[in-house]
This record gives sequence, C-alpha cells and structure tokens, in this order.
Amino acid sequence: MPATVIVGLQWGDEGKGKTTDFLAEDVTAVVRYQGGDNAGHTIMLGEEVFKLHLVPSGVLYPHITPIIGNGVVVNPATLISEIEMLSARGIATDRIRVSKHAHVIMPYHIALDGAMEARLASAAVGTTRRGIGPAYADRAWRIGIRMEDLLDGAALRGKLARILPEKNATLQRQHRVDGFDLDELVALAVGWGRRLENHLADTTQLVQERMARGEHLLFEGAQGTLLDLDHGSYPFVTSSNPIAGGACTGGGIGPLQVTEVLGVMKAYATRVGAGPFPTELTDEIGEGIIDRGREFGTTTGRRRRVGWFDAVPLRYAVAVNSVSSIMLNKIDILSGLDEVLICMAYEVDGKRIDWWPSDADVLARAKPIYERFPGWKEPIHGCRSMSDLPENARRYVDAVERLSGAQICLVSVGPERNQTIERLPRLQRPTTASALGSAATRAGSEATAER
Ligand code: IMP
Repeated sequence: MPATVIVGLQWGDEGKGKTTDFLAEDVTAVVRYQGGDNAGHTIMLGEEVFKLHLVPSGVLYPHITPIIGNGVVVNPATLISEIEMLSARGIATDRIRVSKHAHVIMPYHIALDGAMEARLASAAVGTTRRGIGPAYADRAWRIGIRMEDLLDGAALRGKLARILPEKNATLQRQHRVDGFDLDELVALAVGWGRRLENHLADTTQLVQERMARGEHLLFEGAQGTLLDLDHGSYPFVTSSNPIAGGACTGGGIGPLQVTEVLGVMKAYATRVGAGPFPTELTDEIGEGIIDRGREFGTTTGRRRRVGWFDAVPLRYAVAVNSVSSIMLNKIDILSGLDEVLICMAYEVDGKRIDWWPSDADVLARAKPIYERFPGWKEPIHGCRSMSDLPENARRYVDAVERLSGAQICLVSVGPERNQTIERLPRLQRPTTASALGSAATRAGSEATAER
C-alpha cells in the first residue's frame, strides 16, 4: 500500500506542483492535507497554464481523484470558483472530494486576519490575509464551522448566532471595521453547502479504502517545513503543519502507512512575508535570481525574498520529515553566476551553530558561514542526465546531497515536465524504511570511524 508524501523543505514555493505532476502517472489520488487558499501553484499542461490555490493539482489528470483532507481550511468561495474555472476549461470536476470535517474559512476570519495584521504594524507576520490563522484558531478553540455544517441551515444558524456577536464585537470595537449580519452569513453559507454537497465525503474512509486496495496515493503538503507552526521560525509561520507528519493528522493515514517522503527544495532559498532569513540576498545577484526564477507569489503577487541555499535548515527539514529522497528544483536559475554559495552553519553571538534554531530572535542574529563553489555559465535547460550537466553544476548537486543526508533523486532544469533529470529511476527511489536503514548504517560507520 504505497503512500508518498510530498513536502516542502524550505519556506514554501519549492515547486511541489511540478513534483506532483511528475509522479501523477503512478498514483490514483492526490490528497491535500493542510493549509488553505494561502497556497498557490501554477501548472503547465501543454500550452495551457492553470493557477490553483485549493484544489489539488492532480485534478488535471482524468485518472486521479483530487481529495481535500480534513486538515485543510476551506474557503468555499475559492473552491467553487476553482471548480467552475476547471469545468469551463473542460476538466471533469465531479471527482473532487472534500472532507466533511475540513473547517470553513468564514468571511469574519478574513476580516480578522487583515485587521490583526494592520494592528501588528511593523510586527506583522505578512500573512496572505486569507483568514488562515483565525480559521485554525477557531478550530482549536472548538468554535469552528465544518464543511458538513453548511448542509444544515437551522443548526448552522444556531452555531453562528453563538459565535458572531463576539467576532463582530472584536471587529467593530477593537479594530474599528464593519461586522457581519447573521441572516446574510447564513444565506451565503447555505448556498455554499448546496453547491458543494456532492463533493463532501468522509475522506479518511476514502483514503483508507484505497490504501487497502493497494492503490498508490500522493499526499501533497502546502507551504514548507520552515513555515510549520511547530517547527518553523515562530511566530513568522503559517497556522498548520506542512511537515510530513501533517499528512497523518490532516490526510487520514497512519505513520506506518507512509512509504516514501519526497522532500522538495529549490537550488536557492526564497521566502514571502516577514521573518528572519539569514542568507537573504539584497544585491543584484538576488535581483537576477528573482527575475530569472520569476519569484513572485502565486496568491498575493508579492515579490519573494531570495537568498543562497542554506544547509542548516535543510538538515533539520530532512530529519523532522524523515525524508527518504529529494527533488532539487530550479538549478537552471543559477546558471550564469561566477560562483554559488552554500551556507554551512551560522555564527550566533560568537558561537558556531549547525542545528537550525527555530527561535526567530536567535535566527535574526545568525550570520551565515558560507562555502563558495565555482559557478557555471552554460544554460542547462536541455540537460536530461547528470552527465549532460556542466561539471560545476554536478559538483553543486553533489554538495547539496552530501549536506542533506538524503539522496537527490530528481533534478529539475526547467518548468516543463520533461525538463527533469531522473537521477534515480523511480523503482530505485528509497522508501522510508530503506532510507532509515541506510541512515542507521551511516551513523554506525561514522561511530566506528570515530572510535
Ligand atoms: P498565512 O498562511 O496566510 O497565515 O501566512 C503566514 C506566513 O506564511 C506568511 O509569511 C506568508 O507569506 C507565508 N505563506 C503562506 N502560504 C504560503 C505559500 O504558499 N508560499 C509561501 N509562503 C506562504
């Protein structure tokens, strides 16, 4: 019963959509397990470009069931408009399944997200203002509205009548913005329920039935490890768990059912929103990477911050996700540079640190310790095997792999599906069990060598 989890190893936007696209042929369902319409991916299918925020990218393949798991927070308006956009472009959407237990992003969550960010001023997180944090907060507070609640107008009215006065008081008195009318909210939400009723399901049951039939399922994380609520640089994080463990809580599988964790990262780092970024580049090298890599947010259009590749959080991300192999994306964007730098460790208050200090205050004081690698001038979009790559690009990939402690199985040299080097054929990709075995062997031989 194979289950592959795709997880971002950086601050999101690592190109997970391309990874899903590459693996799509092998799987029967793609399950989104956290986040909401704060995410965004652009998928190129032949000449056509699709921009999706909520519906898993697997929807573009007729053999795949796209599933939105219980761990996702759903803005029904976004979901309905994506379904309508896809249908209008000839994509069958009746297969889309949404967990009855997924929480709904209500209009007051969006208003509260914006109001809170405005109030925090210079301390703002730089959220996407999609209501993600307030929706997850209400879930934890047990006053959330779930997708199944949209189907019962009378019960929904009762719940909203209890919740809304407090939301309106906060919006109107503390933030001095408009509140919401109960009747209008109920009418809006019941309309959403009617439109989405046929898509609602017990998605954990669906997942487990398919796993029992031996089908291969893909669990797709949004954002990335360094934005994880528990493992990222709190408070500059999102409000869910993008790490591989999130696939269990938000996707409906158990840890032992995960057979592969494919970590996705770019050959350099990017970050959107506020928060410490030790390897950030604010010079013309950074500008060049932004332009060549088209580093603008899919959801907000914001210009992403860019920096050199940072091996410190990479080691951490490989560990907390138990990554079995890696896809390295966008190495083509580094072509043309005289040299490329990798951050090996940080200096914090005069001490060397090798382990990612999630603490935002410590990270803000971290000075990167770099190793310099010679660059390569040739464009590499046409390379289809490692031996096609310039020697310095190969060295860079080898260095990144050595630093990560996991095998790089796929290297992407352009946005198209065929612009991918399959460094390890798919049947040879390590499983979580074999990756753990070789990590243990490595640790054993290192211990022997030390003795
Ligand atoms: P929120 O998820 O909208 O609450 O935003 C919290 C932080 O996560 C902000 O720094 C956002 O810029 C960042 N963020 C959320 N979604 C994404 C994403 O898909 N890619 C990159 N950054 C994201």
